[in-house]
Amino acid sequence: VIGHTSEIRVTNVELAPDGFSRLAAVANGVHPGPLIKAHEGDRFKLNVVNKLTDPFANDTSIHWHGFFQRGTTWADGAEGVSQCPIPTGSSFLYNFPSGGQTGTFWYHSHLGTQYCDGLRGPMVVYDKIDPYKHLYDVDDENTVITLADWFHLQSRELALNGAGASANSTLINGKGRYLDGPAVPLAVINVQKDKRYRFRLVSLSCDANFNFTIDGHKLTVIEADGQLVKPLVVDSIRIFAGQRYSFVLHANQSVSNYWIRAQPSTGFGRLPDTTEGGLNSAILRYAGAPDKDPNSIEVPSKLPLREPNLHPLFNPAPPGSPTFAMTLAIGFNGTKWSMNNVTWDAPVKNPILLQILTGAANASALLPKGSIYDIPRGATVELTVVASPVAAPHPFHLHGHAFSVVKSAESTELNYVDPVRRDVVTTGIGMNTTVIRFVADNPGPWIFHCHIEFHLREGLAVVFAEAFSDILVKNPIPQSWRDLCKAYKKAHPDF
Ligand code: C2O
Repeated sequence: VIGHTSEIRVTNVELAPDGFSRLAAVANGVHPGPLIKAHEGDRFKLNVVNKLTDPFANDTSIHWHGFFQRGTTWADGAEGVSQCPIPTGSSFLYNFPSGGQTGTFWYHSHLGTQYCDGLRGPMVVYDKIDPYKHLYDVDDENTVITLADWFHLQSRELALNGAGASANSTLINGKGRYLDGPAVPLAVINVQKDKRYRFRLVSLSCDANFNFTIDGHKLTVIEADGQLVKPLVVDSIRIFAGQRYSFVLHANQSVSNYWIRAQPSTGFGRLPDTTEGGLNSAILRYAGAPDKDPNSIEVPSKLPLREPNLHPLFNPAPPGSPTFAMTLAIGFNGTKWSMNNVTWDAPVKNPILLQILTGAANASALLPKGSIYDIPRGATVELTVVASPVAAPHPFHLHGHAFSVVKSAESTELNYVDPVRRDVVTTGIGMNTTVIRFVADNPGPWIFHCHIEFHLREGLAVVFAEAFSDILVKNPIPQSWRDLCKAYKKAHPDF
């Protein structure tokens, strides 16, 4: 666990979280990276020191997923958008306010597919006074549960056709097993009988979504992506890449061991979606239970989490009609992804914010052409995402905002009254649509992209230039940011 004012050292290390050893890129020597912990109102000062040694992949850039970066768009970490990458041997201070946001977040490399190689970890901002405090007894670093897909090849070596890649194992709190691999220890989460726990479930996934269950226990969901929701009792949670949930678990079953299961799916069913032999599993252990594997039985879910049943505790949807409406259709040509037929190609050496700083007059003057849209200041924005004909759900994430999911892929109806607010929403399959709304009150260039990293790499993103003429006025750029671009260009003279 590290605090909100900390150093993050990025290094290459050999790791074998599932018993298979490979080179990883990690924060502070561990995978997942340490929990970054803060309290309501804290300012983050995270100094990222790049000590990567892999000659083929030694730049980095870190995104603090879910933070709005109001006034600090330069600290958002998105490659090609908010900053130049940090070359090895350099460091960069991400200095940004939590700005009243509380809840469960995460951080990850936003450069290529680097977080698939290990550079990712959870973040929590604890409330001063949690409106749901009466619902639980325990909420600490031991109640954060991370889910991650893990690959035996480096992400850049994965043979891809743009569609995605097949993970070797699922890691729960950094531990897991692969098919026909050794029976290495699984993560154990300890509870005491009759206590109530606020678990914070964080998907650090690169690709797969997970169906999460704990044998014999119901889960009361109270938060989605840093937004409190009205309590919803479920027995399974399908969680997509980048999403987070808090749920309360009452340890009211008999003292024993229970399987925690996170069964992966990519929409193509290429992963071993079984919990046999401890695949995709961890252990919930009551105090006093033997140090043994559970023999609990999986029962079919009767109360799955359905997104349309999530309603915000605060923050209803923006009222009235949209003043800026747009439809984005996902396309795939067998190699590259596109939105409205344009493939995003990150301008790594000349990020959008640098283009603005050096005098671009409006969004249409920015490169890459056709991928950047102006959003007028103060607009009520309504975005309709038309799912791809390729049968895979795409979890879309918007930087700089949470949004209201007025039409979930799981629903045929529009809800303008009390839809869930979150920052990652999945599309459905076939020609399904997802509709989101937000108010454009945060000037900045914000990327909207599929959180399947292989799809982002192959272009499934657009950038919104929000309140263009206010971007520099509202976001003073520190000298260290300009110096970073110089250091990057020096490190890549022939780029
Ligand atoms: Cu979690 Cu643009 O990312």
